[in-house]
This record gives sequence, structure tokens and C-alpha cells, in this order.
Amino acid sequence: MQSFIKNTFCLVFVISVTVTGNYVGEIFRRSGIVPYVIRNAPKEQCVVNYTKSGIVVRIGELLRNNDTAEEPVVQFNYRDGRFYTIFLIDPDVPSPEAPVLREYKHWILGNVQGGRSYPLVVYQGPAPPSVSPHRYIVLVYQQPGSLCFDEPRITNQ
Ligand SMILES: *[C@@H]1O[C@H](CO)[C@@H](O)[C@H](O)[C@H]1NC(C)=O
Ligand SMILES: *[C@@H]1O[C@H](CO)[C@@H](O)[C@H](O)[C@H]1NC(C)=O
Repeated sequence: MQSFIKNTFCLVFVISVTVTGNYVGEIFRRSGIVPYVIRNAPKEQCVVNYTKSGIVVRIGELLRNNDTAEEPVVQFNYRDGRFYTIFLIDPDVPSPEAPVLREYKHWILGNVQGGRSYPLVVYQGPAPPSVSPHRYIVLVYQQPGSLCFDEPRITNQ
């Protein structure tokens, strides 16, 4: 059985702010996430805590599938009363060398506020089909307000 590994990157995207020379931005550019996956580098970093396995992700580190099987807690610099959308995407599908199926949505939570959220895509842990590691990117966007979602919910089945 091949044991797969993965990268997890994490960010807070700040709308209308273009940032240069910051640490997260540097990593995102070096990893090709900017400009090929998102156009602008984020200014801040969020904390991704896989509480079940006791792993607090360090940006760019390799993780095992089994340690990321359960959804993490994402902490970020939020403003009271605001709603957020959180994504976990894999832009390296089926492989980083030929990502023709970019991007796979592993997790989308809408209307995140406090401990509440609306799961649009139920968390599906990484299980990359290629031998080379995939980049897994956590994105946090601030919504203009509470949103009414009518898309069918995607389960992890
Ligand atoms: C991660 O979660 C665990 C369990 O809830 C908690 O004890 C720990 O302080 C968290 N780490 C960070 C950096 O938030
Ligand atoms: C994942 O597998 C590794 C290696 O077998 C092990 O050390 C680790 O404890 C496992 N993690 C969980 C959450 O079971």
C-alpha cells in the first residue's frame, strides 16, 4: 500500500488588499499558488488545527492522509458580526505534473460565524491519487453578509 503525503497551506485572503513582501505571500508565490490558483497573495495566515490527530499545520509541511482524515478547526482573525467562507482545495488533481482536473473541492463552509457554519461541501480528507505530494490550500474569505445558499450540498460519500 503506497503511503501518500500531502502539503497543507493556509491563508486568510483579505479582499481589496494587495500585499507584497509578506511571509504568506512569499510562500504562496514560491509554491506557484499565486498567480496560478489565486491572483493575489493573502496578508494573513490562519491556523489549521487537526485536533483529532493533535496536528497544528505549519505552512508547507507534509502530512499523512490519516492525520487529516477528520475536519480541522480553522482559526483566523475574524471581525465580530461578519460571515466567512472557508475552502479546502487541491489544485494538483490528478497530479501536480498534469493538473488537468484542477481544482478539487475538499471542503466548503459558508456563513461561518462563531462556531456555526453551513457545510456546502462536507469535509473529505485528502487522498491524492499521485505519488508526488499535492498542495492543499485553506482559503478564508469574508462574505459581504449572510448568504442564502440553494446549491445542493455535496456529501463526502
Ligand atoms: C489545537 O486544538 C487543541 C484541541 O482543541 C488545543 O488544545 C490546542 O490549543 C489547539 N492549538 C492551537 C494552536 O490553537
Ligand atoms: C497516522 O499514521 C502514523 C504512522 O502509522 C501514526 O504515527 C499516527 O499516529 C497516525 N495518526 C492517527 C490520527 O491515527
